[in-house]
Amino acid sequence: MHDDCSVITKLILSAAEDARKETSGEAESPYTQKVEWPVSCTVGPGLEGAIACESSVGYVNGSKGLLIYRGYDIFDLCAHSTFEEVSYLLLHGNLPTAEQLETYQQKLVSYRYVPKTMRVLMGFPIEELNTMAALRLGTLFLRQKKTLIDQEAARPDIESAIGSDEDSIPMEIAPYGEPHAIYEFKRKASTAQADDAASPESCYHLISGVATIAAAIRRIRDGNMPIEPDPDLSHAGNFLYMLTGRRPTPVEERVMDIALILHADHGMNASTFACMVVASTLSDIYSSVDAGIGALNGPLHGGANELALRTLRSIGGVGNVKGWFEQARASKQKIMGFGHRVYKAYDPRARVLGPLSRHLAEGNPDIQPLFETARALECEVASTLGVEKKIFPNVDFFSGLVYTSMGIPPELFTPVFAVSRVSGWTARVLEYLENNRIFRPRAMYVGPFGKKYVPLEGRSDDEADEG
Ligand code: ACO
Repeated sequence: MHDDCSVITKLILSAAEDARKETSGEAESPYTQKVEWPVSCTVGPGLEGAIACESSVGYVNGSKGLLIYRGYDIFDLCAHSTFEEVSYLLLHGNLPTAEQLETYQQKLVSYRYVPKTMRVLMGFPIEELNTMAALRLGTLFLRQKKTLIDQEAARPDIESAIGSDEDSIPMEIAPYGEPHAIYEFKRKASTAQADDAASPESCYHLISGVATIAAAIRRIRDGNMPIEPDPDLSHAGNFLYMLTGRRPTPVEERVMDIALILHADHGMNASTFACMVVASTLSDIYSSVDAGIGALNGPLHGGANELALRTLRSIGGVGNVKGWFEQARASKQKIMGFGHRVYKAYDPRARVLGPLSRHLAEGNPDIQPLFETARALECEVASTLGVEKKIFPNVDFFSGLVYTSMGIPPELFTPVFAVSRVSGWTARVLEYLENNRIFRPRAMYVGPFGKKYVPLEGRSDDEADEG
């Protein structure tokens, strides 16, 4: 691997120039206006086209292939910024001053230590869990004395002990055989709840903590002890260090930093929406992020990065690409790492990750053939599905190659996505809670009415099938 970070910056600037040349003639998106509620919009299946809220966190122009965080072009942020600056930007709306950055970094350093969560993770057979399930588990354990319901003022009292909230209140469980717990509590009503459902401190805690947990999951899966963070390393550098136990090279650290910047936010995608739906109930932000991780896990969303790499490996060499693609197309197979609900142009994130993966693959005999397979597949898809249906590589197509070059195993790819996206999730949750309204769409009922209830003993298979 080359050791010159200026090469990386040049690659990004060149990708930015290509993007601007290739897309400058296309129309602006209509999704940049103030919303007058109730809003009229044409909604397709999967809520396509639905307007859920206003936001100034970030913007995706799918026809131009533009991605903007708080007004800044993603290419500029990748070329010149760091994940610390970008996550601060997403949360607070402005790039930090030197002093603000220093304070923020100190907070990230302190929140990177999550000893109680580590204790739980190490006592649990997480090597048997899907890595995203393990990440959810760890994220929920971060929620210690950080939410309203854990605060003294909001503790339940015995007199109001009529409901049950086993999730947040330590309970004494009756000896085995008793039908229910000895104490059941009802959460004390509090007007402070809206303010406390999420706070910037909880966001910093999550941004730092999720990275530590993801790295520890990898270590524990491999039979190793988790590694304590190094306060002198950046967020990206620390993440790689805690994963591998080795201080990353400047290029590795820089590339990781860029990958984290690229994945940090992306409009009302499925996982962000999942976080916001949970937040809108005035649950807490740890539960929101937990929901986001669950949604990100799916192969149609963040889970595609792992599958995209597995696809490249299974093709078995650049010579097989044409035949593989023709067969995939004939069977209408979805090709992982391609297509997007919003982008009908080349995804700017793939524009950056493609050249980075090429750079990292150079001279690496394990990665070079995979990269060539990827480029050949990209050409096949772009010249066919790209023309017909505007299907191009998305962020998940090249990220796996980048991570593989840095020694990150495939089952960690989607957790790495979460390590970054937690910044966008929390920023959007904070923003939404300023004018919160619980999400509550309707479904169109298309089932029957007026069916006669048949007692159990009178039911037949025919009736069950109908129902
Ligand atoms: N490969 C082949 N054909 C595709 C692909 C693909 N990856 N994606 C879409 N198409 C085709 C569909 O078959 C469909 O064709 P048809 O109109 O002839 O039936 C058409 O394009 C529209 O596809 P939809 O699935 O309706 O598009 P939608 O907006 O619902 O889905 C999605 C977007 C889920 C990303 C889809 O493109 C996909 O499944 N891609 C593969 C998985 C993937 O890479 N996901 C990561 C997305 S990026 C992210 O979430 C971080």
